[in-house]
Amino acid sequence: MTPTPPPPAELSAERLNTVYQGDCRDLFALLPDNSVDLVLTDPPYKDYQSNRPVAHEKVTAISMATFDLEGFIHESERVLKPGSHFYCWCDHLSFPAIFEAIQARTRNVSARQAATRLKYKNCLIWVKNNHGSGDLAGNYAPQHELVIYASKGRTRPLLSGRRPSNVFFERDDQGRISFYSKVSNYRFQHGTSKPLAILERMIEASAKHGEIVLDPYGGSLSTAEAAMRRGCRYIMGELDADHCRRGVERLEQVRDELLAEGYRPEVLDGPRYHVLQAAPPPQERHHSLNAQERRRLEEARAAKASRASDNPEPAPTFLPDFLKGE
Ligand SMILES: C[S@@+](CC[C@H](N)C(=O)[O-])C[C@H]1O[C@@H](n2cnc3c(N)ncnc32)[C@H](O)[C@@H]1O
Repeated sequence: MTPTPPPPAELSAERLNTVYQGDCRDLFALLPDNSVDLVLTDPPYKDYQSNRPVAHEKVTAISMATFDLEGFIHESERVLKPGSHFYCWCDHLSFPAIFEAIQARTRNVSARQAATRLKYKNCLIWVKNNHGSGDLAGNYAPQHELVIYASKGRTRPLLSGRRPSNVFFERDDQGRISFYSKVSNYRFQHGTSKPLAILERMIEASAKHGEIVLDPYGGSLSTAEAAMRRGCRYIMGELDADHCRRGVERLEQVRDELLAEGYRPEVLDGPRYHVLQAAPPPQERHHSLNAQERRRLEEARAAKASRASDNPEPAPTFLPDFLKGE
């Protein structure tokens, strides 16, 4: 017998079309179970420390220490509505760890539990129209990035009519194929902005108009722009205050442009901006939460403790150091 999925939860209006500046673990704590329609994100999967100039500044160094892979997978799964889709950008080095963290969710569990867990579906590929530098010593030049595509339990169908290819490309009237270019670091003053056209294609395939897209590692906030352009609402997290400030200014401009074009104003409400409290020690933090948030925190701790006792093995040895979490 197919288990009945839990009812979706309503998110309060002030959470929607909001950019949360701070650690996304604190953003997840604000979101109820089964409340978002799509997770589309791009966590800090490699060392972005770079000296490349960005509009006469340096690209901001991103601390790998803030990426808690297991917590991110678990929280994404919790907040997604049943059947909803999950996209996570990665590369060939981070793919194995993220894939394994997802596979582990449905290993040795009952059908009832599997219906509430992330299930790996496919690997999507962005072929760039020019390659990066990477390891120059006797190596092939890197010219692609990957996206892990998964769903929570039984997958709802893709919305983009025909069955899309897992490689992103465009074909013109003469049948000629072209790929999507990299986004210049100068464009949004961010080192790893993803092409808007690809983000829009993923949203178009996985969220209906008015539905809610969550990107906890928002960067330049391109996912929010793509969501607006596809008639969806968004919830964004981003640690860096400068990225948030520039991103919010950009979303205001996009909103005005779309309103002038006659888009539905209720979907374009915002952007709102909210600074998350830096996570204080657990005891103090406990007191500043409301009853519902405190209950969720306690449940999350109990789930973490039960995961640790169910699965005492150490992290797989192939995991690169920067992905081993805290
Ligand atoms: C790969 S970038 C995302 C780029 C984004 N997809 C875009 O198109 O601009 C990852 C982002 O995650 C942010 N980040 C890192 N740790 C974080 C955390 N714990 N909570 C929220 N954001 C975080 C970094 O500041 C960085 O901007």
